[in-house]
Amino acid sequence: MKIFLDTANLDEIRKGVEWGIVDGVTTNPSLIAKEGRPIEEQIRRIADLVDGDISAEVVATGAEEMMREARQLAAIHPNVVVKVPLTREGIQATTALSKEGIRVNVTLCFSPAQALLAAKAGAYIVSPFVGRLDDVGHTGVDSIRDITQIYRNYGFKTQVLAASLRSPTHVIAAALAGAQIATMPFRVLEMLFNHPLTDKGLEQFLKDWAKVFQQTPVNV
Ligand code: G3P
Repeated sequence: MKIFLDTANLDEIRKGVEWGIVDGVTTNPSLIAKEGRPIEEQIRRIADLVDGDISAEVVATGAEEMMREARQLAAIHPNVVVKVPLTREGIQATTALSKEGIRVNVTLCFSPAQALLAAKAGAYIVSPFVGRLDDVGHTGVDSIRDITQIYRNYGFKTQVLAASLRSPTHVIAAALAGAQIATMPFRVLEMLFNHPLTDKGLEQFLKDWAKVFQQTPVNV
């Protein structure tokens, strides 16, 4: 499974890359706005930090304008994947952009029916939003499972990127459901590390060692 950070914050991305477990970054207009820099500059700075796919989203809503914006975003860096909302105009733009060789991440996907259209349009990635489906009483990960099954049935190459992940439970459920990519906020990535038994076990190892060797273990 590829792990992406769902953030435009450079410090968070720097930290995740240092751990060696971040394969890419997804942003959206809200995340870009939070950092306060023009999208071109922010995406360029992110591209300097991470050697992997970086999703940058258009804000136009008409197909032709989306395509114009998409070409500008794609030109920022070879790792840029252009994000387009799953609307009629967005699917039309995805079809055209994919034929031009521009990789598209079709976002704001909330159903297997929508995901089928994204694959038909040649999307490079589709982003079903798990957490937001849960927020309205659905079981978001069920959509991930259905989408991966449908894509497998017909050999669609579109990658399923589980998005809107709010907890380690979401991440594991998305992995079990077969998503190729999970994108998550930095705080969720941090939560994946945590287990009290790891901390307790390490503490006991070091205590037992110190009893005999009277010192913190050195790297041998
Ligand atoms: O960036 C796309 C998606 O991951 C946003 O999720 O947390 O705003 O529901 P969220």
